[in-house]
Amino acid sequence: MANFIVLDNLRKSFGNIVAVNGISMTVDKGDILGFIGPNGSGKSTTMKMATGFLTPDMGTSHICGISMNKHPKEAKKLIGYLPEGAPAYGEMTTIGFLNFIADVRRLSGKERSLKISKAIDRAQIKHVLNQQIDTLSKGFKRRVGLSQAIMHEPKVLILDEPTDGLDPNQKHHVRQLITEISRDTAVIVSTHILEEVDAVCSGVILINKGNVVLNGSAKDLRSKLANHNAVNIKLRPENLENCKRLLLTLSSISKIEVHEETQHNVNLKVLPKENMIIITDVAKVIADNKLPISDISVDQVRLDDAFRKLTTNEIGISNE
Ligand SMILES: Nc1ncnc2c1ncn2[C@@H]1O[C@H](COP(=O)(O)OP(=O)(O)O)[C@@H](O)[C@H]1O
Ligand SMILES: [Mg+2]
Repeated sequence: MANFIVLDNLRKSFGNIVAVNGISMTVDKGDILGFIGPNGSGKSTTMKMATGFLTPDMGTSHICGISMNKHPKEAKKLIGYLPEGAPAYGEMTTIGFLNFIADVRRLSGKERSLKISKAIDRAQIKHVLNQQIDTLSKGFKRRVGLSQAIMHEPKVLILDEPTDGLDPNQKHHVRQLITEISRDTAVIVSTHILEEVDAVCSGVILINKGNVVLNGSAKDLRSKLANHNAVNIKLRPENLENCKRLLLTLSSISKIEVHEETQHNVNLKVLPKENMIIITDVAKVIADNKLPISDISVDQVRLDDAFRKLTTNEIGISNE
């Protein structure tokens, strides 16, 4: 089976601004790809080209093998798309909007009522069916948008910042829904909220200024940072030299930094070679030699830091 989503070398400029500068990706059934990048990096523009709402200057989008350029109608039928922001048609009631979408999707008879009620259930919008969309809270507007995207049970789901502006409970619910739907679907979720990547995504593409900076997993993103998996040890100054000497015999260690010396405490940062996991080796040296330490911990680089460092020119990225 071909990949459900194949984007190949998409490019788009607006006047002098190169919004998307050659972005490619493939997403399979069952996968949730986290599409991340700072504001203005080209996420929405890429998604609009993938879904056929914007014509690329170059490159192609294929949905389940169907070319968006050559057969837009057929390709669009297979897609559920949640554009950024709130749904249009604010003057409609929720149920009016759902009926309108069912018309657009040409659903009729029993199938129509079944799909509408399933979308209502899944998006949890039962209580606002007769309310005008303009008067709904941001969370409910987003959920109405989601119900529209999932109603026809598409093979491909493309969601542009689906949890932006939602409260933690609403975010949790949307993530659960995405995870549930992804079993039979290929999903792309754009976000600038990194916790989302850990929470739901099987893969990550990080873009900056229209270019792919990283294509991998959340783990890969973290491991791009030099001090990932470093071990911090706190001990008394008189034990410093002995501890350093013993630890430096380990082949998995690249160097040891000494930080924040006070009269009674020294912090050692033991840096691994190539992001190796060194805590077991380090702990063994400490235990075997009965080194008196007061604290030991592993640096888990926060995704936020990795994101910031990979999308700015700050130093600290390992050049692997
Ligand atoms: N219709 C447009 N006209 C002009 N510039 C645009 C348009 N849409 C997007 N841009 C510009 O393209 C760049 C990428 O925008 P966008 O794809 O919305 O990024 P993101 O979704 O990652 O925040 C930005 O510099 C933005 O200002
Ligand atoms: Mg956007």
